Amino acid sequence: MSSAPIIAPSILAADFSRLGDDIRRVSNADWIHVDIMDGHFVPNLSFGPGITKTVNEITDKTLDVHLMIDKPEQWIDTYVDAGADCIIFHVEAVSDPERVAKDIRSRGIRAGFSLRPGTPIEPYLHNLDQFDEVLVMSVEPGFGGQSFMPDQLEKVRTLRAVIDDNNLDVTIEIDGGISASTIAEASAAGCDAFVAGSAIFGAQYPAAEVSRLRDLAHSARQHG
Ligand code: DX5
Ligand code: ZN
Repeated sequence: MSSAPIIAPSILAADFSRLGDDIRRVSNADWIHVDIMDGHFVPNLSFGPGITKTVNEITDKTLDVHLMIDKPEQWIDTYVDAGADCIIFHVEAVSDPERVAKDIRSRGIRAGFSLRPGTPIEPYLHNLDQFDEVLVMSVEPGFGGQSFMPDQLEKVRTLRAVIDDNNLDVTIEIDGGISASTIAEASAAGCDAFVAGSAIFGAQYPAAEVSRLRDLAHSARQHG
């Protein structure tokens, strides 16, 4: 990967009473990360297609939609219509990840899968070309503001090696506990894209934090 690190603020940590303002406060971000939780797949509820559509009306940025929901395959059309540019589903929630990815791609957008911290990456290394993105969770999905789990970087290193060895065009994204104190090690392990919620929206100057995170990720890069 030779392009600049991708910084994706998670609006889960935004102030919902002024969502438009908060999204405009990160105008230098690359993507906007949209966390959808259903209270079943994860023990928390966030928001759904209505807010996603509103976010899409507020910004032209790539919407990276992270579905932490059961039966994600039943929601593809809804989130494509709401403006998703990439739909990420959890492998633990589907029986046939390649098929779900195919459905997502057939709608003309990018497809990604994510794994809970306890889910091994090895069973999913053989068909990576069926996906545009892999989202490695570095916290247990469900809540913002948790501590980064450095042991998850082993998955990133494994993915980086397979992707590079096979010349694949797959983005490795990491999600959970990313901040100025953790982004360098995640970047050095081989991540291309970085989700950050509380670190960005909890900062006094969110745009400055986006730039700082991008610079730290860039300096720590070992690849490309
Ligand atoms: C957690 C979500 C994350 C969350 C990250 O389930 O997938 O995207 O918003 O929040 P921070 O950056 O605060 O860990
Ligand atoms: Zn997320």
